[in-house]
Amino acid sequence: MNPIKIFGSTLAAVFLLAACLLARAADTNFSLPPETAQLKPGPGVDLASANCSLCHSADYISTQPRLTRTAWKAEVTKMQQKYGAPLLANNIEALTDYLTKSYGKDDPQPKPEKK
Ligand code: HEC
Repeated sequence: MNPIKIFGSTLAAVFLLAACLLARAADTNFSLPPETAQLKPGPGVDLASANCSLCHSADYISTQPRLTRTAWKAEVTKMQQKYGAPLLANNIEALTDYLTKSYGKDDPQPKPEKK
């Protein structure tokens, strides 16, 4: 067989396949599943969704164990310094407040002195 012919028909087959795939892709409508994780409403939620949803879903926040304020602040700072989240320094406190209020627990209270 003439190698050019073989090449030619392979090429034609590839084009045909590509055309079929393109046609299929064009009339396949699919919608993404709705974002299931939503941040809890509350003061600062806008800030959190604007600043924290750039890289990952809200699951990363909502599935955390309840963290203390100190731990949330460390988390926010880590996002900024280690992972490069473009957080404005003056938003860190507000973000920490929101996270602690919505997904946090109290910092352990110092034990009352024994009398
Ligand atoms: C620049 C991208 C980026 C932004 C913006 C960002 N994060 Fe992250 N975050 C990451 C990466 C990367 C990880 C680690 C992912 C992994 O381990 O799979 C992560 C993980 C987390 C985790 C899981 C625990 C951990 O330490 O790995 C939490 C909680 C979290 N982020 C909270 C936040 C919060 C709150 C904000 C907003 C203040 C935020 N992130 C903004 C990149 C980002």
